[in-house]
Amino acid sequence: MMILNIAMDGPVGAGKSSIAGEAARRLGVLHLDTGAMYRALGLTAIERGISPEDEAAVTQLMRAVDISVAHSEFGQRTLVDGRDVTGLIRTPEVSMAASAVGRYAGVRREMVALQQRLASTTPMLVDGRDICLRVLPDAPVKIYLTASPEARARRRWLEMTGKGDETPFEAVLADVIARDEQDMNRDVDPLRPTEDAVILDTTELDFEQSVEAVLRIVKEKYHE
Ligand code: DC
Repeated sequence: MMILNIAMDGPVGAGKSSIAGEAARRLGVLHLDTGAMYRALGLTAIERGISPEDEAAVTQLMRAVDISVAHSEFGQRTLVDGRDVTGLIRTPEVSMAASAVGRYAGVRREMVALQQRLASTTPMLVDGRDICLRVLPDAPVKIYLTASPEARARRRWLEMTGKGDETPFEAVLADVIARDEQDMNRDVDPLRPTEDAVILDTTELDFEQSVEAVLRIVKEKYHE
């Protein structure tokens, strides 16, 4: 059977997780959040006292642990050696660690292979940083979701404020810019739109408009 997948990339805070999650739900396909898998590795490194800067140790860790995902009606759960770490991977510390461990070729090779295996079994909307280029180079639909750094930081800040977090906006913006810098300038598969991706800039769009724009792109591509 031919499995039709949708590839989506974009920088931090472009709303990938939430927009991709809702678009996948309406399309009736699973949503694979690959960032959560890098986060799970970053978290595990921190927990085991391994510096995310230590390429050899992190690469070895990637080979030693079993990162898996489970899908429920509430979305993706991410597991390390069977332990559910979903609730532990959204902190700023883990965000930076995920971005750091994602720089290593050995880590990326394993992650890409794992994600390709998952996407080969069932239709999925896969979101991340290297999906259009590496994970699903033959996907019939490729989307690069982006927005201005200020818009991305504002959304993230509003979300954090809603949860009672008092981190100032400037700190959130600085984190967005720092992670963009690291993700877009790493040696291995830096984040950038592939030539065959449709660029969707959501700076001026709200959540519903963004989801509808994704669905429109999917529909148009499938009719080509
Ligand atoms: O999408 P996210 O913010 O949850 O991703 C966390 C980090 O993981 C991101 O800063 C870079 C890394 N990442 C990656 O290198 N490749 C992917 N496909 C997904 C995430």
